[in-house]
Amino acid sequence: MENEVSKFEIFLLNRYMASELSGGLHLGRKARSVNDPYLIKQLTWHCLEEVRHAMVWQRLIGDLNAPLKNIHDSQGDEYFSHLGEIKDTLDLLVFTHIFELRVPFHFSMHAKWTKNDKIKNVLEKLIPEEKPHLEWIREYLKKEIDNGNEKVKESIEKFLKLEKETYNHDLEKLEKMGVDGESFAKLIKDNLSEFENGKKWWEK
Ligand SMILES: [Fe+2]
Ligand SMILES: [Fe+2]
Repeated sequence: MENEVSKFEIFLLNRYMASELSGGLHLGRKARSVNDPYLIKQLTWHCLEEVRHAMVWQRLIGDLNAPLKNIHDSQGDEYFSHLGEIKDTLDLLVFTHIFELRVPFHFSMHAKWTKNDKIKNVLEKLIPEEKPHLEWIREYLKKEIDNGNEKVKESIEKFLKLEKETYNHDLEKLEKMGVDGESFAKLIKDNLSEFENGKKWWEK
């Protein structure tokens, strides 16, 4: 028997859908402004992937008979509200990569926490799908570093700090969203050091 899905969890699902769609749109827009054929190809594909993910969430929300809502960052304090700080293509790739590094951890926490099998299945299906997204950008950035582009590490430091701050701030907000928000945020906080202390590829 399926457990009833709480309002809090429906909010999370709608927010996932919003961020996949938002990520996809930005990647697609970038694909229209670059001239490097490799980047045109990769960014178009990455756009498709994120929009497809938005549809996966949308179908799940429908399957759960839950309301589909457009979630906006009304307070402007979430990671995606800092898109204005992206100066060029390199920044967009780093911005995306830093966000995507967190996704498997966050989804695995949600999969552990949820009581709903349908939600758990979607989360577990999407975790490995982040891999090729992470891989192509990582390889691209590595090459840039090898070619002497000093901006890469600067950009990584900047967005890493921003992502960490906005994620932690968001956890504080989730904690205040009733008993469900509180228990979800607690599970994440209890496991946060495991993610944050893990060595990142650019530190090796
Ligand atoms: Fe995605
Ligand atoms: Fe992704």
